Amino acid sequence: MRSVILAIDEGTTNVKALLLNKQGDVIGKGTASLSIRFPAVGVVEQDPFEIIEKMKASIALALDSVAENVTIEAVAISNQRESVVLWERSTGKPLTQVMSWQCRRSESLCDTLRQDQEFSRYVQESTGLVLDPMFPATKVSMALQQIPDGHARAEKGEICVGTINTWMIWNITQNVFVTDASNAARTQLYNIAQQVWDEGILARLGIASETLPEVVSSAQIVGRTKAFGALPSGVPIASQIGDSHAALFGHGGYNAGVVKATYGTGSSVMAAMPNLPSIRHEISTTIAWQDTRLFYGLEGNITHTGSAIDWTRRMLGVESIEAMCQLAGQADPHHSVFFVPALSGLGAPYWDLEATGIFCGLKSATERADIARSAFESVLFQVADVFNVISDELPEKIEYLCVDGGPTQNDWLMQAQADLLGVTIRRGDVAEVSAVGAGLLAGLAIGWWQTKDELARLENKFTLFPPRDTKHEYWQDRYQLWSLAVKKARLAF
Ligand code: G3P
Repeated sequence: MRSVILAIDEGTTNVKALLLNKQGDVIGKGTASLSIRFPAVGVVEQDPFEIIEKMKASIALALDSVAENVTIEAVAISNQRESVVLWERSTGKPLTQVMSWQCRRSESLCDTLRQDQEFSRYVQESTGLVLDPMFPATKVSMALQQIPDGHARAEKGEICVGTINTWMIWNITQNVFVTDASNAARTQLYNIAQQVWDEGILARLGIASETLPEVVSSAQIVGRTKAFGALPSGVPIASQIGDSHAALFGHGGYNAGVVKATYGTGSSVMAAMPNLPSIRHEISTTIAWQDTRLFYGLEGNITHTGSAIDWTRRMLGVESIEAMCQLAGQADPHHSVFFVPALSGLGAPYWDLEATGIFCGLKSATERADIARSAFESVLFQVADVFNVISDELPEKIEYLCVDGGPTQNDWLMQAQADLLGVTIRRGDVAEVSAVGAGLLAGLAIGWWQTKDELARLENKFTLFPPRDTKHEYWQDRYQLWSLAVKKARLAF
């Protein structure tokens, strides 16, 4: 029987299960989609049990997708970050729904806390993150107030607070209560320099430390499966890591000079560093992962990239994304039309909630094609905005921007990104890079691979887009105009 690692990537919209062999190849996969609810303005929730059921479904599909029987040597977990759930320790019964990373129910608590500038600064210095409802901290604080006797029960250790990796592992093992450093770092409760839950933040938010899981390495056996769907009992859980971090690891981000960009609805641009980088307002400082040692990470999250293309597509009445690409391809490249998709303010590196979306440079000669092209270009320029901040912080020359996500299948877009940045774009052939990253970490934990050099040799199927000198000036000129367009978008009205 062939040995495999089962790598599960639990995302916001679906759960993917992959079977990886010792060559690092994906030999089987299964996917199950997840629902999401919007019960009130700004409130976004998922069902904790649906996540567990869909994990089981995706695992069964992955096992069915291979003709032969396989032996699962380890389970690896990559997960949507920042989403959080509370449950009862004695029964495993959820006390809340999963409060999604998209959920902004604690906006007013964040507003109040932000007025205390000293505390805001303290939070950012300790956790690397600006106070924001996206992170679990303030949502957990509110939930403990709403649960009857919440604080008293929390202090007695009766309540568990966990991000999705923790909830998954609790259910697969039937009671192991752990998280890894990458997920802990996204709670806004974890001091990333000292690597401890921050007592000051916990006290201010009224969160008893007894509610929080033990923080372990991202590549470590933390427990074994117990009767979980098609999974046999006794399989070690050997890795857990936030999905963006897992993608960076899967791209070989443990090597110096590698930056990754995930192009999705929004985008995340991220790099790992061996030492704690300085805290910058434009991007988050976080823990990338911990294996034999801890790596820090710099990350910028852009709010609208794929969604900016889709929004423009709908406004233009274009039927499909393919038709949108074709339309954009008809634009005169010397027309200077710019779209700043600040459709819900601007994320990294501006963090300006007041900014509004604008098109500028419109003339009577402007065609629909120019508008379509401006949407694609907005993706390039926004990624460049974050990439430039990250590259300022990295001591070494950037060798590659490694990319993943649906829009990266567009060769024109990837070549233009390379020409704009003056850096080679590297697109791997495997789409599920987060699951692969988690799988590689699990492989290190169970001794399938000994070193990262070994891992780097596994990943040999990719397409390179080297930058073309002849195009760099063209893109630099346009980038300057883009920067002016962003200034206009930030003149709130
Ligand atoms: O920070 C949130 C992110 O981890 C969600 O990822 O893949 O579910 O969109 P995804």
